Amino acid sequence: MDNVGIFRIYNEIKKYIDKIPKVGIVLGSGLENDLCHFDIKKEIDLRYIEGYPKTTVKGHSGKLLYGTLEGVETIVYLGRLHFYEGYSMDEVIVPMRIAGLLGIEVMILTNSAGAINCNYKVGDFVLIEDHISFFVPNCLRGENDERYGIRFPDMTHVYDKVLIEKAEEIAKRENINIHRGVYVQLSGPSFETAAEIRALKNLGADLVGMSTVCEAICCRHMKMRVCGISCVSNMATGMIEQEQSYKDVKNTANSVGNKFVTLVCGIVKSLAEE
Ligand code: HPA
Repeated sequence: MDNVGIFRIYNEIKKYIDKIPKVGIVLGSGLENDLCHFDIKKEIDLRYIEGYPKTTVKGHSGKLLYGTLEGVETIVYLGRLHFYEGYSMDEVIVPMRIAGLLGIEVMILTNSAGAINCNYKVGDFVLIEDHISFFVPNCLRGENDERYGIRFPDMTHVYDKVLIEKAEEIAKRENINIHRGVYVQLSGPSFETAAEIRALKNLGADLVGMSTVCEAICCRHMKMRVCGISCVSNMATGMIEQEQSYKDVKNTANSVGNKFVTLVCGIVKSLAEE
């Protein structure tokens, strides 16, 4: 998608938004639960925003909510666009570009992921501490538009340390099992083989998934602070004697919804106090 297209979508969406939102949240598959206390001012059906890439994943409603969460102006994407759906990387990151243009300062990216680290259990949460991006094309490839950011953005601290520490504090207080880890993004949609998982483990990955990293890169390009939270929906292939199924991934994600909402709301509340 070219920048004319992105700015056109931005101008359409901006009509619904009356204050500059501070926080953006992406709720991944199965994690699209009601956020407690989210006072929704506008619900934007992205299917009707001209030019906006259409989601093809069942259960991803493709909506953008705008309102206040814990007193903070917030936008929430219900669902995301995935590379495996056939979009180019610059289409996949459209929601992040729009968020950046709207003035979002903090982006909370959530997903379900397969655990490569054997210390993780299904239903645990992992704060993404770092990532491995080189199995999918870089979303910033192509001509750089300086309105978004610089040509060669630094990736030393993609995931905000302060937000990681805040999330850990909340998890401890609320008795939620949480870890830190390295997330690797693959293109999907097939799950990995056991040999691929062993290779990824040797590369230093703790979690595997089909999203998030490209979004985080785009957010950092636009200087947003990023918090990445994975829900361990399954053990990665070969870690246990069980075949992979998307249904299991969704069921686990659904079953941890309440804890997940507690974490996200807690993080937003801490931002109100900053
Ligand atoms: N592999 C890739 N993506 C995933 C997985 C997995 O095991 N679980 C959830 N998303």
